[in-house]
Amino acid sequence: MNVVMHGGEGSLSFAINTDRLVMEISDDGPGIVDIEKAMQAGFSTALDEHREMGFGAGMGLPNMKKNADEITVESEKDQGTRVRMVFYMDKGGDGG
Ligand SMILES: Nc1ncnc2c1ncn2[C@@H]1O[C@H](COP(=O)(O)OP(=O)(O)O)[C@@H](O)[C@H]1O
Ligand SMILES: [Mg+2]
Repeated sequence: MNVVMHGGEGSLSFAINTDRLVMEISDDGPGIVDIEKAMQAGFSTALDEHREMGFGAGMGLPNMKKNADEITVESEKDQGTRVRMVFYMDKGGDGG
C-alpha cells in the first residue's frame, strides 16, 4: 500500500527458503526524507483520499518493523524507496 499511496512504479519480490522468507519492495517514487520519523507510530503524510479508504494511520512501517525479524529501509529524496524484510520460519510471528 505504501508504494501505491506514497511511492510510484514499484516491484515486490519474494524469496522463499526452508528457513526464511525475504521480501523486497522497491519503488521509484519521491523517497522518504526522514526515515527515522517515517518509522514512528502515527506519522503519516497520507492524503484525505487515502484516509477515506481507511489507510493513513501511520502504522504501516512500525508494524512491518514489529512483525519482521529484520528490516532495512533505504531511501533518499527523489531516489525512491527500498524496503527489505526477513521473516524466519522457525520463530516469531503471531500465530506460530
Ligand atoms: N514507499 C514510500 N515512498 C515515499 N514515502 C513513503 C513510502 N513509504 C512510507 N512513506 C512515508 O512514510 C510515512 C509513514 O508510512 P506508514 O508508517 O506506512 O504510514 P501511512 O502509510 O499510514 O502514512 C508515510 O506517510 C510517507 O510519508
Ligand atoms: Mg503505510
